[in-house]
Amino acid sequence: MKSYTYHTATETAHALIKHLIGMMGREPDKIFYFAFSGGSTPSLMFDIWANEYKKVTPWKRMRIYWVDERCVPAEDSESNYGTMRRLLLDQVGMPEEFVFPILGKCPPEAEAKRYSTLVCSTVPLWRGFPAFDAVLLGAGDDGHTSSIFPGQEHLLSSFHPYEMSVNPYNGQKRIAMTGSLLFTARKLIFFITGKNKAEVVRDILDSGDTGPAAYVAHHAENVELFLDAQAGGNKIL
Ligand code: 6PG
Repeated sequence: MKSYTYHTATETAHALIKHLIGMMGREPDKIFYFAFSGGSTPSLMFDIWANEYKKVTPWKRMRIYWVDERCVPAEDSESNYGTMRRLLLDQVGMPEEFVFPILGKCPPEAEAKRYSTLVCSTVPLWRGFPAFDAVLLGAGDDGHTSSIFPGQEHLLSSFHPYEMSVNPYNGQKRIAMTGSLLFTARKLIFFITGKNKAEVVRDILDSGDTGPAAYVAHHAENVELFLDAQAGGNKIL
């Protein structure tokens, strides 16, 4: 597990964007399969990416998927797909055919199955499972990641690529990437900022058995943490 800590969330977002662009630059003939999480943290990155890195990003070599989605229509402000489309994908003219949203408006169980089939048929397989080049994860202050909340750890050992989960705080249904895909990704990148995440980052760095985010970070093969100082302590780069 490698962690990189920067003074501010903005600096961390810039570093992560450059890291992803660098990955793609090192393999100029490759198509990259990325899965993005939602929530508020990535919005800063999407906004910066659209405004400051539009011309230097090989958008047509990217295939965009989601780690998780709230079961709401795309127009809803809660929609992870809707947020990324508004802040980034529409701003850079990302071709529709390269974007594979989870359909939040569809019945959750059926959509989890549909999306699992879609990912299995479009993302290159490795060891028999779809292997994303990078999965971008966040972490909730309760230790959840990929809409896998504490108490729903069975999703970490599910063989279904995506399953329905439920936000225990408001009952909102979600579609979540499960351990079967999280642990076959070529790289997991956590992007975590804010002082309210300091405890979960300590758990991720120190223990590995407290909550889904820490468990995933400790059991995946190639994990990188992009943190701001508030979340990651003072090991500033
Ligand atoms: C979601 C996310 C979720 C997120 C964490 C952190 O749909 O909510 O995918 O897993 O990464 O909840 O969210 P914040 O960035 O809003 O703190």
